[in-house]
Amino acid sequence: MNKFTDAEREAVYKAIYTRRDVRSFLDKPLPDEAVFRILNAAHHAPSVGFMQPWNFILINHKDVKDKLAWAAEKERKALAIHYEGERETKFLELKVEGLKEAPLTICVTCDPTKGGSHVLGRNSIPETDMMSTACAIQNMWLASCAEGIAMGWVSFYKKNDIRDILDIPPHIDPTALISLGYTDTYPEKPILETVNWEQRQEMEPLIFHNTWGNKEKTASSSQE
Ligand SMILES: Cc1cc2nc3c(=O)[nH]c(=O)nc-3n(C[C@H](O)[C@H](O)[C@H](O)COP(=O)(O)O)c2cc1C
Repeated sequence: MNKFTDAEREAVYKAIYTRRDVRSFLDKPLPDEAVFRILNAAHHAPSVGFMQPWNFILINHKDVKDKLAWAAEKERKALAIHYEGERETKFLELKVEGLKEAPLTICVTCDPTKGGSHVLGRNSIPETDMMSTACAIQNMWLASCAEGIAMGWVSFYKKNDIRDILDIPPHIDPTALISLGYTDTYPEKPILETVNWEQRQEMEPLIFHNTWGNKEKTASSSQE
């Protein structure tokens, strides 16, 4: 296995801890080479049975971005019914996308038919195709962070609206709309934490030992 130097290990953790979801972007174009590196990072993600179910639709045309923003805004308003009173007001104040501002939007899709009907490992858990696509998107997020480029994941939309706007065939899943661009407001903390919508949970209570809910750590028996 490749051994990381201390500095390289620190750099990986720096990307993990400082990566943020961003919704405000500057009107400044992105270098093609950086976009290529970000896409190539996505393409090197793990995938079930190595099926590589992803495609990337690069959108920089204003009319198309406006249509995507319309679909997201329609969904944002529809989702407000899940909240009442103060929470509803707060929800409607949240900025949940920056699709019009970002110089580049990437629709990351997932093709469940890629690799045929018996993809190794996917027969047991069909959602593994989408999980693989999510791994690719996380790679994009970390790579963007390392490039000094802000990224936002937008999932407020009806999939058929996005299929219609981008001419995506019915069997292809429009998994995510990704906004990419430079920003002068890179958040230190998750935006939802800053606006008191949600806080990061303590990690310790999330960890169990050997069975669900068991907090007691026992000595390992594997070397007996
Ligand atoms: C699957 C997925 C979908 C998301 N969809 C949206 C979205 O539609 N709009 C949005 O503003 N943020 C979206 N986010 C970003 C989360 O709100 C964000 O990751 C979370 O608040 C933690 O903040 P951080 O990413 O800055 O650590 C999404 C994140 C994930 C993983």
